[in-house]
Amino acid sequence: MDAETEKRIAAEAAALLVEDGMRVGLGTGSTVAHLLPALAARGLSIRCVATSPQTEEAARALGLEVEDAAEVDHLDIAIDGADQIAPDWWLVKGGGAAHTREKIVAAAADRFVVIADSSKLVSRIRPPVPLELVPFGLAGTLRRLRDVELRDVPPSPDGGVIADYTGAVGGPEALDAWLGSVPGVVDHGLFPPAMVAEVIVGRGDAVERPKRLI
Ligand code: 5RP
Repeated sequence: MDAETEKRIAAEAAALLVEDGMRVGLGTGSTVAHLLPALAARGLSIRCVATSPQTEEAARALGLEVEDAAEVDHLDIAIDGADQIAPDWWLVKGGGAAHTREKIVAAAADRFVVIADSSKLVSRIRPPVPLELVPFGLAGTLRRLRDVELRDVPPSPDGGVIADYTGAVGGPEALDAWLGSVPGVVDHGLFPPAMVAEVIVGRGDAVERPKRLI
């Protein structure tokens, strides 16, 4: 079974978790692209927040109501893809450069649900880890980060420079703390297990809900 089918069935399973009246966070990427029509097809009365202009445009085109994230302090559920999912549920996100907004939306949700094809399950987190950097003082930030590559993509919608940390990961917890402490780093793509409520993975033509291994 191909990756697109696995993404679609994971996304369709997650769409069933959404209930009438909910406020819903929508992630970004090719897996979320399958979520949006599945959600729209349910015909629920829901209000959404989008993590990227691409998702916002696609959601609106399907008739989903999208609100200004600046005005929404709480979401019932957020659903998003991932680039890597470790057995203990540490995640790497940001392949689509939306990780800063995605982390804000995940943190605002009672329930953050990760959807993915089976290739995203990894035995351990490895580089690259996406970064969003403040343009001011960029050369100094890059020097402090040492192992970093600028991505050849436009700035984020919030004006951030997109890059990837390419050094050793070791323990994600320590890297999470260190990247978060470097002046000039807006945010990075490591998401801690405590943020994740559920993982839904398509494998072949079946949906798996792997438990978190501690
Ligand atoms: C975007 C993300 C995506 O969720 C992640 O890159 C997975 O993308 P896809 O669903 O296309 O495989 O973090 O910033």
